[in-house]
Amino acid sequence: MIKEDKIIKETNGKAKLKKKEKVNKIVESEIRQLTPSQIVEELDKYIIGQKNAKKSVAIALRNRWRRQQVKDEMKDEIMPNNIIMIGPTGVGKTEIARRISKLANAPFIKVEASKFTEVGYVGRDVESMIRELTDLSVNIVKNEKMTEVQIKAEENCEDRILDILIPPVKKPANGSSENIQNEQPAAQSQEELNHTTRENLRARLKSGSLDSRLIELDLSAENYPMLQVLGPVGLEEMGINLNDLFGNMMPKKSKKRKLTIAEARKVLTQDEANKLIDMDAVIKEAAEKVQNSGIVFIDEIDKVAGGHSKHSQGPDVSREGVQRDLLPIVEGSTVITKYGPIKTDHILFIASGAFHTSKPSDLIPELQGRFPIRVELNSLGEDEFYQILTQPENALLKQYKALLKSENIELNFSEEAIKEIAKIAAEVNEQVENIGARRLHTIMTTVLEEILFDVPDKVKMNIMEIDKAYVNEKLDSIVKNRDLSRYIL
Ligand SMILES: Nc1ncnc2c1ncn2[C@@H]1O[C@H](COP(=O)(O)OP(=O)(O)OP(=O)(O)O)[C@@H](O)[C@H]1O
Ligand SMILES: [Mg+2]
Repeated sequence: MIKEDKIIKETNGKAKLKKKEKVNKIVESEIRQLTPSQIVEELDKYIIGQKNAKKSVAIALRNRWRRQQVKDEMKDEIMPNNIIMIGPTGVGKTEIARRISKLANAPFIKVEASKFTEVGYVGRDVESMIRELTDLSVNIVKNEKMTEVQIKAEENCEDRILDILIPPVKKPANGSSENIQNEQPAAQSQEELNHTTRENLRARLKSGSLDSRLIELDLSAENYPMLQVLGPVGLEEMGINLNDLFGNMMPKKSKKRKLTIAEARKVLTQDEANKLIDMDAVIKEAAEKVQNSGIVFIDEIDKVAGGHSKHSQGPDVSREGVQRDLLPIVEGSTVITKYGPIKTDHILFIASGAFHTSKPSDLIPELQGRFPIRVELNSLGEDEFYQILTQPENALLKQYKALLKSENIELNFSEEAIKEIAKIAAEVNEQVENIGARRLHTIMTTVLEEILFDVPDKVKMNIMEIDKAYVNEKLDSIVKNRDLSRYIL
């Protein structure tokens, strides 16, 4: 009877899973694949202006999906059009990268080119970005699969807890046939009894009324990620994990621990979910995802552009080395990761840099050629600053309002005050140094410093109005004095 029950339950479970899988697939393809104009719309929520950059990025993202729909032979021929974004500091390059990471619906990482060193030097080599991307993809796919098997895992976990609470009746040993015949009626009723208590307990377990009860769990060491063997950096970089190598050689330590049922449920569900998913399939799917839709955003690419100065020898050698190491990866090569070889041919690369002291033409020509699409971001002026202060969902003014709300103070800015802040920001950028929208941060902190310090001890008002006069009072003396503004703003 128990057996039958189990079988029915299992088939039910499978049916449920299939249905869920289907639903998931549809949701994924319909909702998360944004059209180019939708992508731009999303970016507009956070980034003011920079239309061209937004457009190019949106097209590139959508092209990933378009390529997936193409038939096989053609699909291999369609290469991603890597983008390089160029624009002065503080105009939204990194911000664009941060925002598309949420829209991409694909494995996406952002790396800083300046963090890499040439192969052979101590440090992170450029191939590690592909390894990271693959790790990420494996995690994404694994989490997806985990949610798919969640229901089944919870059921299994329940069974395991029940097994601990009332150990199942031992089946009579397959001894002589006489023996079985004699003992069967007794065993049968014992089994039934056991079954009813079990179902009773199951109900109570489901209701959560047993949650605080302690049970003893036999946890094999593999449930615990505490044994972290740290190997030399090199090995790790090559994707070899010492734990994987030696983990299976060491005897499995079993460890008894007392946990409440609520805690045990978490541990066991996780464990059961891990057992239910097929890691090989996960890795295969994750690798596919990386190779066909992975995106790498290389920020600060200008920092590895040499700038052919005559005397500085040391760092330039390494910088050019990083560029040279980047070439094969961007063009398409195979990187060995701990999940197997990953081909980078169809991974999309978006690079960006301010190119302050160097020019794009300072990059080695081969690398320039591998980023065929160049978009320029414009430097920002007074009007943009006004919009940046007020419009984005994370606008600075909104942030400060939220901060002071925690002290029960409503902070209001008059229209003139905001315009004045924008104007002063533009002025200081012109006179001292153009640091783009970052200037707004420094100016806002100067304007609000006194308030932020005095609240809540000295200020007892509930509403604070910032007007033009207040802004001028706080900023005038500093702005007029160029030396001072160099240090403070
Ligand atoms: N066009 C914009 N719209 C809204 N906010 C912006 C814009 N440009 C910059 N910002 C704000 O300014 C700050 C700095 O921008 P970001 O990090 O994108 O600069 P960047 O272009 O990457 O500069 P750098 O070359 O120095 O890295 C961010 O906090 C961002 O919110
Ligand atoms: Mg940046």
